[in-house]
Amino acid sequence: MSLVPFIPETAPFSEEQRAWLNGFLAGVFSGTQERPAADPPPSLKIAVLYATQSGTAEGLARKVVKDLKAKRHVVSLTSMEGYTPAALAEERYAILIASTYGEGDPPDSAQPFYQQLCIERFPRFQDLSYSVLAIGDSHYENFCKFGADLDSKLAALGAVCISPRVDCDVDLDDSFASWKEALYAQLDDIVANRPARNAPSSSLTVENAMALGGPAPSTQTSRRIYSRENPFLAPIVEKRPLTADNSSKLTMHMTFSIADSDLQYQAGDACAVVPQNDVRLVEEIIHSLRFSPQAPVELPKRGTVPLVEALTNHLQITRVTRKMLEAYATIGSCDTLFALLTPEKQELLDKYTWDRGLIDLIHDYPGILHNPADLVAMLPKLAPRLYSISSSPLAHTGEIHTTVAVVRYHAHERERGGVCSTLLADRTGLGDRRPIYIQPNKKFRLPEDPDTPMIMIGPGTGIAPFRGFLHERRALGSQGKNWLFFGERSATRDFFYRDELESMLRDGHLSRLDTAFSRDQPEKIYVQDRMRENSHLLWNWLQEGAFLYVCGDASRMAKDVDRALHSILQEAGCMEPDAAQAYIQGLKDDHRYHRDVY
Ligand SMILES: Cc1cc2nc3c(=O)[nH]c(=O)nc-3n(C[C@H](O)[C@H](O)[C@H](O)COP(=O)(O)OP(=O)(O)OC[C@H]3O[C@@H](n4cnc5c(N)ncnc54)[C@H](O)[C@@H]3O)c2cc1C
Ligand SMILES: NC(=O)c1ccc[n+]([C@@H]2O[C@H](COP(=O)([O-])OP(=O)(O)OC[C@H]3O[C@@H](n4cnc5c(N)ncnc54)[C@H](OP(=O)(O)O)[C@@H]3O)[C@@H](O)[C@H]2O)c1
Ligand SMILES: Cc1cc2nc3c(=O)[nH]c(=O)nc-3n(C[C@H](O)[C@H](O)[C@H](O)COP(=O)(O)O)c2cc1C
Repeated sequence: MSLVPFIPETAPFSEEQRAWLNGFLAGVFSGTQERPAADPPPSLKIAVLYATQSGTAEGLARKVVKDLKAKRHVVSLTSMEGYTPAALAEERYAILIASTYGEGDPPDSAQPFYQQLCIERFPRFQDLSYSVLAIGDSHYENFCKFGADLDSKLAALGAVCISPRVDCDVDLDDSFASWKEALYAQLDDIVANRPARNAPSSSLTVENAMALGGPAPSTQTSRRIYSRENPFLAPIVEKRPLTADNSSKLTMHMTFSIADSDLQYQAGDACAVVPQNDVRLVEEIIHSLRFSPQAPVELPKRGTVPLVEALTNHLQITRVTRKMLEAYATIGSCDTLFALLTPEKQELLDKYTWDRGLIDLIHDYPGILHNPADLVAMLPKLAPRLYSISSSPLAHTGEIHTTVAVVRYHAHERERGGVCSTLLADRTGLGDRRPIYIQPNKKFRLPEDPDTPMIMIGPGTGIAPFRGFLHERRALGSQGKNWLFFGERSATRDFFYRDELESMLRDGHLSRLDTAFSRDQPEKIYVQDRMRENSHLLWNWLQEGAFLYVCGDASRMAKDVDRALHSILQEAGCMEPDAAQAYIQGLKDDHRYHRDVY
């Protein structure tokens, strides 16, 4: 009689996992019980790598891992942060999911990996087969560029592409699905045509056993997970301006109640709001086209809905993209528009699309759309908008606070507004509910050590996560020093959370509060000027191990602050430019320099 091993209760598995593993072992060792899965053994060893800043690429990578495990592959999931080209060269199959930032750059966390890869000169990935999923946003000039660069670089270094790269826009469900379909079909072919000897070791490890169909690591509870498809309808319980009536801008503090939900977040996360277009604009578009608001139209995954519902809740109507223009030009065989789409007219195209929406296109090039289905097919999906959470789950139980700058501008004889920020400002009252979910930001967290000093640079709405951090640290009783740089246009009109911050300064929770009000004097003063004025102190804090955080505008502020940091290191730290660069890279490598910029 053979002894059947079993997994003891003390082993680090859930009940479900333990029961499954014990059944599996009994089957293997007795030879009598049926194996839990009759399918062939694990097929390929596949590395799934992701490069992310705000978690989208990681979320997609996890979905791919789940699918591949279900297909009996042995799969690893790794962030490109801390990963090396040498490790990649050891792999046979790799799937890379990468988002793009900056001017077509990798996310911060993937920069060292990519820089090292770019140094590689000789093909040394001949044994590697790979596929890239690039994710981005076509409103940016360098759409999905990092994914594309990664793809070309791997090919140049000898790796074989098993399934072509797909570039996903904000509305990524369909592209993600088609990329997966093609990739999985290729992997199935590889498995079907390869000799069994290539299969990974058949020795029984927990990972192998799990890959054979064991339950995924348990999530411990049956908490409801909210997402874009399944958001929580959160009531607004507080809404007040943070700017004075006579300010040149409107920024609001808005609180959502999550008391009746399973929503959980950590300081540093963002709240995603699923927006809705302004019904007046929707009606104007429908009227201009002489369509019926109730005309039935098909939406992927939603089926048939009235046109007015599609344009209000599901499709982006306030921006014009190249893709939209291409579709519009094709429907109308419009040569003037085709001319605008040629590469040499890129600058004109950018100028046209910058501050126009669908309504302008319809007026500027009339008589093209005769069918609601054509209109719906050419519009991108309406994407959720993210707002850095400005509360702390410990200090503000049951609530999510946000700090929302309202986007308004005048262009082409029309008052215009950002979809979501004006929805919250103009069309959402106290007690109204809005669909939300949490977008985790795992890279933007408080230091684990409560005594670590923190330097936070957050002009404008960039202050949001730092208000959350400060409240969280207070609730935790953390003793680490806190230094905040805040900037806005005017001290009397735009000093967000002034009372709260000054009170924290008085009681010592904030060690320093440095403000830069850009429009209170003839010359501009920005946060980086205040940093430079305090360069020696800032250097001392860094030497004491301070973590550095930057949040807010990506297009100019974050770059200027980074430049200021370099010059502070050169001046106060007496470093040559290269040494300053290396020091900053060291801060990043040690997870002491965090950016959440948009
Ligand atoms: C991780 C993250 C965190 C964020 N946190 C915050 C936050 O805490 N607070 C906050 O307010 N926002 C935050 N944002 C930005 C936020 O998600 C939205 O992008 C912002 O509110 C605008 O969305 P909207 O729907 O109102 O505008 P949209 O409908 O998206 O319109 C914005 C677009 O309008 C056009 N536009 C804007 N101004 C002008 C102008 N003057 N002239 C011509 N065209 C113009 C531009 O094309 C611009 O891209 C964050 C974004 C990210 C990615
Ligand atoms: N709030 C709006 O009306 C609005 C409209 C469209 C887009 N946005 C975008 O939304 C994001 C956040 O906007 P926000 O309302 O939080 O504020 P913001 O526009 O980032 O402004 C906050 C403060 O930062 C200053 N600033 C401008 N350029 C800077 C630089 N290079 N370095 C450091 N500081 C700089 C601004 O000064 P000055 O403005 O005096 O130069 C202001 O004092 C940004 O990406 C912004 O571009 C905002
Ligand atoms: C500050 C900022 C810069 C961005 N730059 C680009 C860009 O140059 N090209 C692009 O295709 N997408 C760009 N994006 C869009 C992101 O790639 C996109 O939101 C992606 O889904 C983010 O993935 P992640 O959550 O995995 O980081 C940018 C987004 C932000 C917030």
